[in-house]
Amino acid sequence: MTLSELRVDGARLCQRLEALGEIGAVSGPNGERGCARLALTDADREGRDLVVAWMHDLGLAVTIDAIGNVVGTRAGADPTAAPVMVGSHIDTVRTGGRFDGNLGVLAGLELIETLEQHGVRTVHPISVAFFTDEEGARFAPDMLGSLVYVGGMALEDALDVRAADDGARLGDELLRIGYAGPTPCPAPGAPHAYFELHIEQGPVLEDAGITIGVVTGVQGISWTELTITGQSAHAGTTPMRLRHDPGYVAAAITTGVRRVAREMGGSQVATVGRCEFVPNLVNVVPAQVTMTVDLRNTDEGLLRQAEAAFAELCTGLEHDEGVGIVRRPLARFEPVEFDAAMVALVESTATRLGHSTLRMPSGAGHDAQMLARVCPTAMVFVPSANGLSHNIAEYTEPADIAAGANVLLQAVLATAQVVAAPDER
Ligand code: GLV
Ligand code: MN
Ligand code: MN
Repeated sequence: MTLSELRVDGARLCQRLEALGEIGAVSGPNGERGCARLALTDADREGRDLVVAWMHDLGLAVTIDAIGNVVGTRAGADPTAAPVMVGSHIDTVRTGGRFDGNLGVLAGLELIETLEQHGVRTVHPISVAFFTDEEGARFAPDMLGSLVYVGGMALEDALDVRAADDGARLGDELLRIGYAGPTPCPAPGAPHAYFELHIEQGPVLEDAGITIGVVTGVQGISWTELTITGQSAHAGTTPMRLRHDPGYVAAAITTGVRRVAREMGGSQVATVGRCEFVPNLVNVVPAQVTMTVDLRNTDEGLLRQAEAAFAELCTGLEHDEGVGIVRRPLARFEPVEFDAAMVALVESTATRLGHSTLRMPSGAGHDAQMLARVCPTAMVFVPSANGLSHNIAEYTEPADIAAGANVLLQAVLATAQVVAAPDER
């Protein structure tokens, strides 16, 4: 077998995805099988323990850093060479699937196992990483672990972040689950290059009948938490004209940001994903509402325009409705463009393997957008059935999983430089 014919074992990769997906498993009424492994929960710890055990089984040298990022490394022939890193995340949203993030990490392990089986050595070491709290659903911002890894957020600030659900401190949760590791973070040296295989999480590839998405970059992300304070009052006795109702204001913001996104068009999206009423009772005008707004655009100027329209909406409502609105930024990342040569490598590799390709930006945030700050970075997308993700019905066909993992394998080999051809077993 020649090097260019080397392929991963797709069935073995799918078996690992299944096994990891059993941890924090949630099922739906129509046979959907999803996952709830919010960052730094007991389920996250169990998932981490399983992946670390697999890393040890494969003979990787495993490090855990101060923010809980885990890196397993296979030595290269040149001990001074920086590793080619493959990675993603294994935390999920509360109603997540089994593929988001997990695929990129487990494809890394599959790639290593394939190299072991065929006796392929590389000049550069190859590392497989999973980064803490990529989702940001429990601890904002998203991509927190990789952000700290590249020096984009101070470790102390990250450890002090409080959970959106139960107010727990990130650093305390990290200690509690046993993943506050001794390796320094930010990492002292950058990887030679970083690759991330991920499901698309949207409908574009499936709609176009394309197998491999060649990711050109990641759109900008702006997350804000709003606390709207009004006057709690009796629902029956308070005339409409005399109300200061944060519930109404939350609804107006929800429809308002949607209108902004629809009017701007292009890649602009707007989402209100969390909204909590206090006291949340049928016959009480609420005293306070806490809600989140997620704005994204591939163009930084347009994202700023959306943010300005959102700010204006809030100011107008404060004035018109006599409520107070406090806006707290949760995450703000500019759009990222991946390294042109790395993108071209992913594209030519996929074409060489006989797959149809489409260049596309990523709508979702990824650890790759943080690694792109310190080393040449690229991503490979595979189709998501019905475009669904952050949904327990998330699914990707085994053939597409294998296709993506093989593109990853061959692109990594081209970058890590092979020193010995596969043996002829
Ligand atoms: C996080 O991954 C996001 O895109 O919301
Ligand atoms: Mn993801
Ligand atoms: Mn996700």
